[in-house]
Amino acid sequence: MKNSIYVLVLLVFLALSACETYPYQQGKILYTNFCENCHMADGSGLKGLIPPLAGADYLQKYPEKIPCIIRNGIKGEMTVNGQVYDTEMAGIERLTEFEITNIINYIHTSWGNNLPVVEHLQVREWLKPCEKNVKPF
Ligand code: HEC
Repeated sequence: MKNSIYVLVLLVFLALSACETYPYQQGKILYTNFCENCHMADGSGLKGLIPPLAGADYLQKYPEKIPCIIRNGIKGEMTVNGQVYDTEMAGIERLTEFEITNIINYIHTSWGNNLPVVEHLQVREWLKPCEKNVKPF
């Protein structure tokens, strides 16, 4: 009898911890499927062609632009960590607000990045003014 209580407590604990890590796991899986080809598994990018996400000043400076970049893509010159990039990134229009939020939070908390966690309602606001191929500023 006592044992079954321990088992129950363990199951509740496992269920709760699974809920907590789900957004991070989804962000990681989506990153692997949609971003890793270019930005690399460790977020380092490709020298001179694809900007890094690990330690990128761009993420800190323009957090409000990131959801639009993910949804619509971006082209034109942009500077990341002092290096100029001018390669087009295609958008991924089918990602939902939640999925975009989870990808951003995965990026914000991976590879030594320590950026604030963003809420999906914030991401919804940031997505509102998006137009095709937002220019960096
Ligand atoms: C086909 C290659 C490719 C894919 C796939 C791709 N990107 Fe990009 N990404 C780029 C390039 C190239 C730029 C720079 C665009 C420019 O020069 O204007 C960029 C820029 C960015 C930037 C702004 C600069 C920086 O480094 O902070 C972010 C953020 C970003 N990408 C996130 C993502 C995320 C998240 C995904 C997956 C959902 C993704 N990218 C998928 C190629 C790609």
